[in-house]
Amino acid sequence: MYAERVLSGMRPTGSLHLGHYHGVLKNWIELQHEYPCLFFVADWHALTTQYDNPQGIEKASMDMVVDWLAAGVDPNQATLFVQSRVPEHAELHLLMSMMTPLSWLERVPTYKDQQEKLAGKDLTTYGFLGYPLLMSADILIYRADKVPVGEDQIPHVEFTRELARRFNHMYGREPGFEDKAREAVKKLGSKKARLYEEMRTRFQQNGDRDAIEQAKAVLDEVQHLSMADRERLFGYLEGTGKMILVEPGYLLTEASKMPGLDGQKMSKSYNNTITMRESEESVTKKVRSMPTDPARVRRTDPGEPAKCPVWQLHQVYSNDACKEWVQQGCRTAGIGCIECKQPVIDAILREQAPMRERAQVYLDDPTLVKNIIADGCEKAREYARETMRDVRESMGLEYH
Ligand code: TRP
Ligand code: SF4
Repeated sequence: MYAERVLSGMRPTGSLHLGHYHGVLKNWIELQHEYPCLFFVADWHALTTQYDNPQGIEKASMDMVVDWLAAGVDPNQATLFVQSRVPEHAELHLLMSMMTPLSWLERVPTYKDQQEKLAGKDLTTYGFLGYPLLMSADILIYRADKVPVGEDQIPHVEFTRELARRFNHMYGREPGFEDKAREAVKKLGSKKARLYEEMRTRFQQNGDRDAIEQAKAVLDEVQHLSMADRERLFGYLEGTGKMILVEPGYLLTEASKMPGLDGQKMSKSYNNTITMRESEESVTKKVRSMPTDPARVRRTDPGEPAKCPVWQLHQVYSNDACKEWVQQGCRTAGIGCIECKQPVIDAILREQAPMRERAQVYLDDPTLVKNIIADGCEKAREYARETMRDVRESMGLEYH
């Protein structure tokens, strides 16, 4: 019924690093060719934990969008916007808050996890508890059916699905829905009506998804049904009523395998990153001072790549011939560590060159970025307004 739409958000953490590039952005860039995509800066989400220090959020948002563009996210293919500039998210969040059981929020695993992890911060706030609900509003307002997320975010998408189901069940029913649906079944003619009922029972009793498809095929054959009856019959089939909000699916983004400078996963909190647009001198210096296999004290001591973080970077950046050269040279002390690091430095600089070039255009003229976001926000708002019209109507808040 709806075009397959991809939606993803990122909290504004400022300059992104190569882990973000390899883990998330490359994936977005592929998706933008395949689907209509919406990518947004989740600045309100940043406030749920950073409410005591909001000053840096705007700059962090802009820097992050420049990094998206630098990576190759194309504003002509994907819609880029900022959450707080589409206030409809807040309206949907509010309306859904009325029917969201507190216990559902309290049992989202990130709730307690994050409170423990950020123990120094008072996160016993209403906004922090509502974080998954805000994320649900982000997703549902665009009727997105594909949400690329990391593993840690999957419970939030599951929560969103449950919420959409609850919402449709509560508000997707017109008065007298059951009677009207039964009347509509009769209009199918006795043979098709029997088939439809059989499939409906099969789904509702056994959760048989094939039965749904078969029943839909039956409905497709019937020409004389009104749109309203057709909708009722779809809703009656699954027991949902009318579908106002779409249950999203997720696209699992593989955990980043990008190693940092110390061999741990690259992460800002480990202080082992190379930023996407880090200067050439700094990249060179950082890689040159990376630790290596501690057994190689002198140039003449042989080493073992498996014990060396530089080897992990070779696995990301080097071809087979180069990797062979490293293994061989390291184990026989045929090459020195500085020599071994050079191909990694070269490869990173090669990867960054087009990013630096693309970013320069936006750094020279920041209004370009502002305009991209303004256009994106306008487009996003159009979708969001459409959903909100249906949501308000279904909750009896039309006022006309
Ligand atoms: N919660 C996500 C994170 O921390 C960011 C996010 C907010 C998001 N809203 C979203 C991701 C909607 C996907 C869809 O990474
Ligand atoms: Fe690491 Fe390369 Fe030195 Fe071996 S030669 S210890 S792989 S940097």
